[in-house]
Amino acid sequence: MAVPLGGRGSAPHRPVLLRETIELLAAERGGLFVDCTVGLGGHSEAILQASRDAQVLGIDRDDEALELARKRLARFGSRFRAVHADFRNITRVLAIAEVKQVRGILADLGVSSLQLDSPSRGFSFRHDAPLDMRMDASAGVETAAELLGRLSEVEIAQIIFEYGEERRSRRIARWIVERRERGEPITTTRNLAGLVERAVGPGKQRRIHPATRTFQALRIAVNSELENLDRFVTDAVDLLEPDGRLAVISFHSLEDRIIKRTLWKLSGRCQCPPRLPRCMCDAHKAVEILTRRPISPAEEEVAGNPRARSAKLRACKKLLITPN
Ligand SMILES: C[S@@+](CC[C@H](N)C(=O)[O-])C[C@H]1O[C@@H](n2cnc3c(N)ncnc32)[C@H](O)[C@@H]1O
Ligand SMILES: [Zn+2]
Repeated sequence: MAVPLGGRGSAPHRPVLLRETIELLAAERGGLFVDCTVGLGGHSEAILQASRDAQVLGIDRDDEALELARKRLARFGSRFRAVHADFRNITRVLAIAEVKQVRGILADLGVSSLQLDSPSRGFSFRHDAPLDMRMDASAGVETAAELLGRLSEVEIAQIIFEYGEERRSRRIARWIVERRERGEPITTTRNLAGLVERAVGPGKQRRIHPATRTFQALRIAVNSELENLDRFVTDAVDLLEPDGRLAVISFHSLEDRIIKRTLWKLSGRCQCPPRLPRCMCDAHKAVEILTRRPISPAEEEVAGNPRARSAKLRACKKLLITPN
């Protein structure tokens, strides 16, 4: 879902679905938790506050975020450790930290308010900046501007349609490529926002800025946000101790679908197409799902934090004995 405009810049940072997440993680039991997306450290802080025996190993691929989280959580001393990594490498991160099993794992997916509000990183059209959008500039991935300079019109349209759910994706892609061919490639946030606004037209009364969906789509593509999420969930469950919890907050329908299906599979529900004569997806019961339906924020939370609007929280607990 597109993140609505407004409120983000001015609202203080507030972790999404905080109480619900801490409850599902059963953080009051203490033990070692992995926060895969530390961001500004809001969820990590609440885990550390839930029990004196709680420790957090916090992962983020954004160095700037980690630096702020380290400062914010310094008062917890050695109970908080921060690691710069992609959470999809969680197995390797824990092996290096010489950790075999953990009590809980959290992933609060997507972009942080720090990233969106940064005047220079190109995530938002509220600031004029080079069209960058990389969460981890050290990872050697292409910027959004480079992507728009390299991909074909069809590929650009596909990204904007799939990840942004933007109906006018083809028209936007055509305009981007036409500009490129005229020797005026899109290099800044304002360039892109202006082009999309003109390509999409004034339309009916909008809740969100016309460029919101296109920006969201590009960000997801630049950071390969949907890649290997299924493998991450499977790896995370492997790393839980019996009765350990995994909680995932997603903001995009494609993300939520991947999380839902992987959790179903890990709870023993076959995900094979109905025509297959026997199960090929290796579904086996390793977890109990704790959220039959995803948890969404209450109205008051959305009123105070528009970004929470599309949040969906799913959680599971590892079974005591995993049947073979
Ligand atoms: C929504 S924010 C997390 C906010 C955090 N829960 C808090 O309370 O402040 C998402 C964070 O995850 C990070 N992130 C996104 N994808 C990641 C990945 N694959 N590996 C590591 N960090 C990632 C982003 O850099 C961002 O800081
Ligand atoms: Zn199957």
